[in-house]
Amino acid sequence: MAMTTLGILGSGFGSNMQAILDAIDAGALDARIGIVLSDHPDAHILERAELKGIRAEVINCSGHLMKFPEAAQEETARKLTEAGVDLVCLAGFMRIVKRPLLDAFPSRILNIHPSLLPAFPGLEAWRQALEAGVSESGVTVHLVDAGMDTGPILGQERVAVLPDDTPETLHFRLQAAEHRLYPEVIARYAATLTP
Ligand code: GAR
Repeated sequence: MAMTTLGILGSGFGSNMQAILDAIDAGALDARIGIVLSDHPDAHILERAELKGIRAEVINCSGHLMKFPEAAQEETARKLTEAGVDLVCLAGFMRIVKRPLLDAFPSRILNIHPSLLPAFPGLEAWRQALEAGVSESGVTVHLVDAGMDTGPILGQERVAVLPDDTPETLHFRLQAAEHRLYPEVIARYAATLTP
């Protein structure tokens, strides 16, 4: 596919979205970000998107803290479609995507996760890795299915766990790996898509 239009879903800081934007600017990823959606009105990712002149909107989850209500998923699918999105990238999005959003973008939703899946799915994977005492962790990009951090793996990068690592230092190095891996896998995967 020539220029791919990406839709980004994020709940937080937006450093992975920034890495995607940097890869686009550097000519390493033939894409544009058509829309950024967040379930948190005050998420920094929305501000970052607005600064870049990208359409940025809030997903209304009707006060649910964890759940991604069906109506909100329908609304999300509608906005992504309206923005001409070819490929959806979850970038620190903390709700589980299910139907109808999965059905609207079959095999077209990617996620980045800070562990070598299937190890340590779920929240604060870096803390889980430290608590398990592993000597190596890493990051994974995978296709999203209805599970939590499951779905076919498209790419991984290994990161050593150091003896004096704290959750913060390990998370920092995992994020640096995410910022390298995610744009690279998006570029590779986007090249396989038919319009
Ligand atoms: C990233 O480390 C990402 O892997 C993690 O949230 C962080 C978001 O950072 N996602 C998950 O744990 C998903 N299960 P960012 O907002 O700076 O990109």
